[in-house]
Amino acid sequence: MPLEGLRMNVLVTGGTGLIGSRVARLLVATGHRAVLLDNAPRPLDAGSTSSSIVTERASIEALHDVIRIIKAHAIDVIVHLAGMLGGSSEANPLTASHINVVGTMNVFEAARLCAVRRIVSASSMVVFGSDDEYGTLPITDDSPRLGAKRAPMYSAGKIYMEMAAELYRERYGVMVVGLRPSIVYGAGRESGATAFASELIENPALGKPAHVASGNAYVSMVYVDDVAAAFCALAFAPETAFERHRFFNTGGDRCRIRDIADAVMNVIPGASITVECGEERDVMGYPSRIADNALREEVGFTRRYTPLATGIGAYIDAVRGARG
Ligand SMILES: NC(=O)c1ccc[n+]([C@@H]2O[C@H](COP(=O)([O-])OP(=O)(O)OC[C@H]3O[C@@H](n4cnc5c(N)ncnc54)[C@H](O)[C@@H]3O)[C@@H](O)[C@H]2O)c1
Repeated sequence: MPLEGLRMNVLVTGGTGLIGSRVARLLVATGHRAVLLDNAPRPLDAGSTSSSIVTERASIEALHDVIRIIKAHAIDVIVHLAGMLGGSSEANPLTASHINVVGTMNVFEAARLCAVRRIVSASSMVVFGSDDEYGTLPITDDSPRLGAKRAPMYSAGKIYMEMAAELYRERYGVMVVGLRPSIVYGAGRESGATAFASELIENPALGKPAHVASGNAYVSMVYVDDVAAAFCALAFAPETAFERHRFFNTGGDRCRIRDIADAVMNVIPGASITVECGEERDVMGYPSRIADNALREEVGFTRRYTPLATGIGAYIDAVRGARG
């Protein structure tokens, strides 16, 4: 049955995190109910409080809790975002495996047992290797998943998830699709291997100095509101959107880290930013030449916060707005 146009009960795992809180806000703005499952819920900002948003404190590591919550709220669709990010995953490999691998399997299994209509799962561009492993070619939705070598636990978890998604679809008919975000930037980013953008953009917006390393490294940046909107687009797209692909690159604005500093300086000319530049070509071996053809052509989703200056302007406005 097509999902567009219906009022849905949507479970968002990791729902109070950076991306999840925006997904929740978009869901209720478009008439859906959002149930946020999070083991360490953060308070939602004033714009996200609504009687259509419920928070459940629970861990995806406990299958019975995930099943209980799905049944209690008659969940139709799951947006699965809960996870441990790159950097933390490498520092805590066993915990990362419990959350990113076993926790994800619990979500898939609970969806199967409860006949959930669709799961939209957070993958990442780290399923791909670094740019030079692909020669001079752009990295498309069909490029081989070589994995980011300096983030082995994180990238292996995402590749495992994508392959398990295929098995659940083929063997059990569970519709699992997903998004591979580039580096997500936006107010509230607290952790992860790519949290440098928070310091680089938020500190100047708050009148504080910023210092970043790896100024010459290339990155692919995507604004958080675009990522949340893309997750929602996949949650309600017609099934025909998934005939050719089930996992979609968000793509992003490709730039050097020092270009981000320049874009911030354009908005805040007096900002105190120091950027260290060396021989580095990337951050953590993450790719940057990410193409978003399938998301645009097959799902019909186009990023709004591009070029980079547009997203940075929105980010600075959001930080200054929150400060009041
Ligand atoms: N931020 C990025 O740059 C980026 C890029 C690509 C993919 N992703 C993926 O998107 C998803 C969301 O990322 P984010 O940036 O919003 O991260 P985040 O850290 O802001 O949010 C993750 C949320 O998951 C929750 N969580 C962690 N372990 C849990 C568990 N066992 N049970 C229930 N909840 C748990 C956390 O409390 C947190 O609120 C993740 O799967 C991440 O791998 C993020």
